[in-house]
Amino acid sequence: MAAVPPVARVLWLTGLSGAGKSTLATALHQRLVEAGHRVAVLDGDAVRAGLCRGLGFSPEDRRENIRRVAEVAKLMRDAGLVVICALISPLRDDRAMARGIIGAAHFREVHVATPLEVCERRDPKGLYRNARANALSQFTGVSAPYEEPLAPDLRIDASREDACDAVAALEALLGA
Ligand code: ADX
Repeated sequence: MAAVPPVARVLWLTGLSGAGKSTLATALHQRLVEAGHRVAVLDGDAVRAGLCRGLGFSPEDRRENIRRVAEVAKLMRDAGLVVICALISPLRDDRAMARGIIGAAHFREVHVATPLEVCERRDPKGLYRNARANALSQFTGVSAPYEEPLAPDLRIDASREDACDAVAALEALLGA
């Protein structure tokens, strides 16, 4: 067990599809667990397979998706876990709602700011290709908006930053 556990907090990773949110969340999770902390990851793709099954990508459904995740994150945090949420969460208003549910004192916003061109070039799930071909509607960055955070607690461009440095910066945010 680490001598000084981090203050139980919620890290909210926002950014485009393919920006590297899930990869960062997984790496940070592993690192914190190794250090003896209790950690949970709430990832968009995973929650949409269960907790948020049936929700689509309209603005209303995204808001409900984010609300549910924020409520679960709050419960987990209250139970003493560090919670890493990895959701596109494209609208400032919706992220403000999440902050309000969780409580500003415990909420840290991280913008995974990998540029659209890089996400699109990576296109790990082929979704950008489908969105450009009009086979997928309301796709963030192509046919639906992404509002960048104006004053995130941390900004990471996963395409430029070394992964270890990025995880260290996230860890530092937990201790801050
Ligand atoms: S959010 O906008 O409601 O926060 P969330 O992070 O849960 O989104 O889910 C995003 C994931 O859903 C993407 O990584 C991608 O795999 C998938 N997805 C499918 N359709 C869309 C779409 N129209 N826009 C964005 N992501 C989509």
